[in-house]
Amino acid sequence: MIKDLIKSKVSLAPMAGITDYVLRSLVRENSENAMISSEFLNQSKGGDIVMRGENHSPISYQLSGHKPKMIADGAKYLEQYADMIDINMGCPVNKVVKGTDGCALMRNVDLAQEIVRTVKEAISKPVSVKFRLGYTFDELNFVEFGEKMQEAGAEFITIHGRTRSQMYGGKADWKMISKLKHNVDIPVFANGDVVSIETAVQCLEDSEADGVAVGRGALGDVTLIGRIEKYLNEGIYLPPPTLEEKVEALKEHLKREVELRGEKVGVKFCRKFYPYYLNGFQGASKLRGEIVLIDSIDEVMKKLDGVLYTIK
Ligand SMILES: Cc1cc2nc3c(=O)[nH]c(=O)nc-3n(C[C@H](O)[C@H](O)[C@H](O)COP(=O)(O)O)c2cc1C
Repeated sequence: MIKDLIKSKVSLAPMAGITDYVLRSLVRENSENAMISSEFLNQSKGGDIVMRGENHSPISYQLSGHKPKMIADGAKYLEQYADMIDINMGCPVNKVVKGTDGCALMRNVDLAQEIVRTVKEAISKPVSVKFRLGYTFDELNFVEFGEKMQEAGAEFITIHGRTRSQMYGGKADWKMISKLKHNVDIPVFANGDVVSIETAVQCLEDSEADGVAVGRGALGDVTLIGRIEKYLNEGIYLPPPTLEEKVEALKEHLKREVELRGEKVGVKFCRKFYPYYLNGFQGASKLRGEIVLIDSIDEVMKKLDGVLYTIK
């Protein structure tokens, strides 16, 4: 079953508050087969998190937590939307690991196994796990951890090549990931710092993984996942978007967020994406500083049209 789902060597990594319905749709429009991911909050059923388009498959929904029954209940609810249920065992954020959620589960292998088993028993869709190299460099237990997850019934792994203590600092260690790949039979996707076709190719070579999961690289460039796939499948190298294309893409992203959430919330929601779309040109920082204060979609669009006018 998992083989039928993994038709692509690239996936969109889950990013809380980022990989919403709009971003997932934009990525899907550029890639037919990549697994697209969303995080899910167990406490709030419904809402835009579970909205999915007709073409959103394959799609994975991720659950966080440390209470097996509660996570399994969330998985049962999500089964109607999801093609795969992912369990977050990699989140490094303090308020998450202070409990036993996220990456803290890497220090509690028995509980992590119990979560996977309980979720597996509750649903019929494949269950995957996403974790890191370990909690600290002194606790690099990712190989053993991956074996234990497989033993508990996980059918797919995404591994971020950093430790929890690194948070997002330093560089993801793709070579290290190959040790996991050699010790489990289920598909492994390598994650961390894949931001281009070149880095995707290097990551696949170093990690020997079955694919790559792209997070931040897809922000400001919703074509990246599709472009990596095209290169891997057909050897065709499509260049990254030009500034003009990026500004047009931001306009589209903004338009759709406003359609989804209304102007007041949509414009505010989109602010987090500005640094990813608007960078690398003279005056970018000043422009970002200005538009981040604007609440009206028409006004933001005018500013963006101003950029287009100056570069055309
Ligand atoms: C804003 C943000 C939110 C994230 N939220 C989640 C999450 O909810 N679950 C998760 O497993 N990882 C989450 N991550 C981690 C990413 O999935 C990914 O592992 C990490 O960003 C490294 O990959 P990248 O270098 O391709 O971004 C988040 C990352 C960012 C930047």
